[in-house]
Amino acid sequence: MKSIIPAAGLGTRFLPATKCSPKELLPVLNKPVIQYVVEEALEPEGVDGVVIVNSHEKPQIEAYFAEDAEFEAMLRERGKDALADAVHEAGALPVSFVYQDDPKGLGHAVYCAKDQMDGDPFFVLLGDYFVPDRQMCVDMATVSAAHNHASVIAVAPVPADQVSRYGIIAGECVESLPGCNATGEEEGAVWKVTGLVEKPAPEDAPSHLFIVGRYLLSPRIMDLLATQGTGAGGEIQLTDAMERLLEEEEMYAVVVDPDKGCDTGTPAAWAATNARMALANESEAAAFKEALGRDVKLG
Ligand code: G1P
Repeated sequence: MKSIIPAAGLGTRFLPATKCSPKELLPVLNKPVIQYVVEEALEPEGVDGVVIVNSHEKPQIEAYFAEDAEFEAMLRERGKDALADAVHEAGALPVSFVYQDDPKGLGHAVYCAKDQMDGDPFFVLLGDYFVPDRQMCVDMATVSAAHNHASVIAVAPVPADQVSRYGIIAGECVESLPGCNATGEEEGAVWKVTGLVEKPAPEDAPSHLFIVGRYLLSPRIMDLLATQGTGAGGEIQLTDAMERLLEEEEMYAVVVDPDKGCDTGTPAAWAATNARMALANESEAAAFKEALGRDVKLG
């Protein structure tokens, strides 16, 4: 089984930084954002590879995940074994590439990886967000296994005035945890999905649960994407193909706490993620607080 990470976007929100280096390689501490997503994508049992949907404009991503024995050897010669190990680790990850040179939307990006999926179910992880404990997709796989291997997506509550930024589900809560209230919008609740709509106006939103950017999908979605027309924003939307999938197969949504993940989609969110990860990192936290304390008063 494989995971797909769409990464063909231009990264315009980070210009000029992304003029010649892809946003996926922006670091969080000393590791590129996309490596956190790749490591998360490999976490569920049975996933043995990641397919990155890249554009030919960003060969640096492929270079980053390639082995570089010469560079490693040079670092070892200089006694920098820990750094050589880190370089080796990135090159040894089971990552392959397909290309989407025409940005036609998320649905089209996923479809570009069809031939690599071998007809199996697969995960999709959107790359502007990563979950440090890597559990979200693992939990989704558990929910899928309990429901006859149906498709499962991660969702979370969003304020009504923000629904038009996301894919929103319709459905009913079929399992909530003991002690949860009746809305079924707490972490761990499972919904049976009855409809999906991409970027609805607030008055058209069927719920307040938005698609967080983690999907476990039936292989049938690829056949539907092959004929999927354009939707919101003139793009081929994954959400629209999932809505068609509902006519044939069951689909579930698991409510997650989006704050368990880190957003890297805007410069401010990326900076906050660096702060959060530095504070959570034993060997960096003290130095980070000291460096910050000298220059910044928060609040
Ligand atoms: C995409 C999906 C949307 C989802 C969102 C999560 O939208 O199409 O359904 O809610 O990611 O970030 P985009 O952010 O690419 O517009």
